[in-house]
Amino acid sequence: MNDLAVFGGERTVPAGMVQTWPPLSQEDRDAVMAVFDSNILHGTSAPNAVALQKEFAQWLGVKHCLVTNSGTSALHMAVASLGIGPGDEVIVPAFTYWSTAAAVLHHNAIPVFVDIEPGSWCIDPKAIEAKISDRTKAILPVHIHGMAADMGPVMEVARKHNLYVIGDACQAHGAKCDGRKVGTIEDTCGFSTNRSKNLSSGEGGLFVTNNDQAYEVASKLREFGEVVVKGKDREYNAYGLGWMYRSHEFVNAFCRSQLRHLDENNNRRKEFAAYLTAELANIPGLKGPYTPPNREPVYFSYIVEFRPEELGLDVPLAKYKAAVQKALAAEGIGLGQWQRVPVPAQDVFQDMQGYGKGCPWTCGFYGRKITYRGDDYPETIRFIAQHAYLAAVHPPNTMDLMKRYVAGFKKVLGQPKAILKLIEQMG
Ligand SMILES: Cc1ncc(COP(=O)(O)O)c(C=O)c1O
Repeated sequence: MNDLAVFGGERTVPAGMVQTWPPLSQEDRDAVMAVFDSNILHGTSAPNAVALQKEFAQWLGVKHCLVTNSGTSALHMAVASLGIGPGDEVIVPAFTYWSTAAAVLHHNAIPVFVDIEPGSWCIDPKAIEAKISDRTKAILPVHIHGMAADMGPVMEVARKHNLYVIGDACQAHGAKCDGRKVGTIEDTCGFSTNRSKNLSSGEGGLFVTNNDQAYEVASKLREFGEVVVKGKDREYNAYGLGWMYRSHEFVNAFCRSQLRHLDENNNRRKEFAAYLTAELANIPGLKGPYTPPNREPVYFSYIVEFRPEELGLDVPLAKYKAAVQKALAAEGIGLGQWQRVPVPAQDVFQDMQGYGKGCPWTCGFYGRKITYRGDDYPETIRFIAQHAYLAAVHPPNTMDLMKRYVAGFKKVLGQPKAILKLIEQMG
């Protein structure tokens, strides 16, 4: 057995082998350069904005799409366009990027958190009903890490209680539940196209809906509350409060170019994930992700579960995880951490300051006392403690890198005594 790199042995993944996301091509460069040549840099009627909206709507299979300058702005539009506002409650999973809940707060509505279902890391449909009150207007499932939430039971609860369903698909372009792509099932949905996302434009977002009225409202919100009718003079009349959520034509052009490769890139992610999960099934100490039978994930992240008991190690999970992460990092294998606590445990919910003076919680329109306790979400806490994220399971990396990863896993997990020694050293 080779010495672990953390103890001076040779590393498994050579320095410089891991490549960053997204893969960039001459096609991308040409698309952006063509914007310079066109001299049209922005505007909701700009050619790349209009074409991107049409192409993404077609790719997804929805009636309407609006390009925005972030996933958060798309989500805010997804909330506000359904008429959700001051004092309304929206049900959100406790495990997500907190932007999901911020999109609710941005419109003076109140996030109410629900734990995740074991196994899929998405909202637990069975836990939703207990959180519904007479103020609840919507459920906001997040399709996290490329995994679709279990939409059948979510839609059932929503129908039963006459609630809207808003999707956060920022991490899940192309993920499916029961054969349907996320973003086509919900009333409205937001996607992010920031640098790391399956569809990347550096920064940006996409709002989608099949609802004509939500589309009209979202169009106004995106641009100052004004209505801009293509081919007509601008009216310069605001019909209500809106934001400046337009995107730049460089970004739109780049996003269109990346969209042409989205399916191919998602397929590579799936191939890598299938290989890693099959290999990890035979490597005691670490496991790949479980996929519920009705879901088709697109592996925005490849998550790994830590299982010290499989190696016969009677050590605290946190210490085992830290030692294995350190040993693998020395081998050139990145296993990072994402969220540290459930979203409701974050300071913004503990301090309840929101956008100042305690609003929106203490503004007169809510008039109800809500408390956020991080400990109320045991599945979220368990998930965060047990898992980490394997870096670079995406193109332009190739199967060569995945094979090196597996070699590194076998090398480190094959030496439980060395892991114990590292745990002792780390104190
Ligand atoms: C689950 C989730 N929701 C919302 C967002 C917000 O997207 P953006 O950063 O484009 O505003 C992100 C990404 O950062 C995310 O991962």
